[in-house]
Amino acid sequence: MTTTADPNELKGEDWAGEMGIKWLTHIDRFEGMIAPIGEALLARAGIARGERVIDLGCGGGLTSLAAAEATGPQGAVLGLDISPDLIDEARRRAEEHPNVRFLCADAATVTLEDAPYDRLISRFGSMFFADPYAAFANLHGLIKPGGRIDLAIWAAPRDNPWMMELMGVARSHIDIPSPDPRTPGPFAFADLDYVRDILAQAGFSAPDIEAYQGEQAIGGAGALPEDAADFALASMAIGRALAEAGPDVLASARDDLLGLFTRHYRDGEGVMMKNKVWLLTATA
Ligand SMILES: C[S@@+](CC[C@H](N)C(=O)[O-])C[C@H]1O[C@@H](n2cnc3c(N)ncnc32)[C@H](O)[C@@H]1O
Repeated sequence: MTTTADPNELKGEDWAGEMGIKWLTHIDRFEGMIAPIGEALLARAGIARGERVIDLGCGGGLTSLAAAEATGPQGAVLGLDISPDLIDEARRRAEEHPNVRFLCADAATVTLEDAPYDRLISRFGSMFFADPYAAFANLHGLIKPGGRIDLAIWAAPRDNPWMMELMGVARSHIDIPSPDPRTPGPFAFADLDYVRDILAQAGFSAPDIEAYQGEQAIGGAGALPEDAADFALASMAIGRALAEAGPDVLASARDDLLGLFTRHYRDGEGVMMKNKVWLLTATA
């Protein structure tokens, strides 16, 4: 018998609460998995000395710290995040960095006394807004006219085998209804026409978009298949849905995940699975 998961359980939108705490609990693994994407985003952004930068949905603040290296002490970075737990962690990491500060706020509505900023960057922090049109209109007001935004957003799940194959394992044990592709969540901006429309309505220029394709280490670089399976079940929305289906379902799904991850494991590198991300640039 299969169990049907509530699609709302799979959205992962509660960043101010449970999702923020989950990200923090597994922060080294999450950040390790997406580290190369942060490097690609920052290399493309080419932040200059002296610039003032917002890091949207900064999480634990690693990209904020990297941006602050680029601005130097003459510039400054503000990391914005809705999760108080992640902002605490970001502040802890930035104690020695006077040109970085963090604010816990909803970027959809926040007002900043020291706006407008020169730039905005975001590694996977822009796809969770309940009303992205209103949120991006608000963000537009925080950036100088002509100021540049650089976003990393996930391409469609079908182009991300790491997600498709994980979902394939979960779906062989429980029914998981497909949510509306624009539902706020990691893949909400996979439809680039939708993103173009949001940006245009908010007053941004037509974006320049580059595909980033690589491999990511599930559970972080060097993680063993067992660690990757436990990480996926503990930290991702499918894990909760499988757990709710009962211990037998969970154990059997874990076996299958282990099999999947063992097939993708490379000694010294980890469980390497293909990904695809859009790197998007526009101006305010
Ligand atoms: C996938 S995590 C990425 C974290 C970080 N950018 C990184 O790459 O390590 C998404 C982040 O967006 C934040 N976020 C989601 N909705 C937000 C909102 N409305 N305002 C500010 N931050 C938000 C979450 O709290 C979370 O830290």
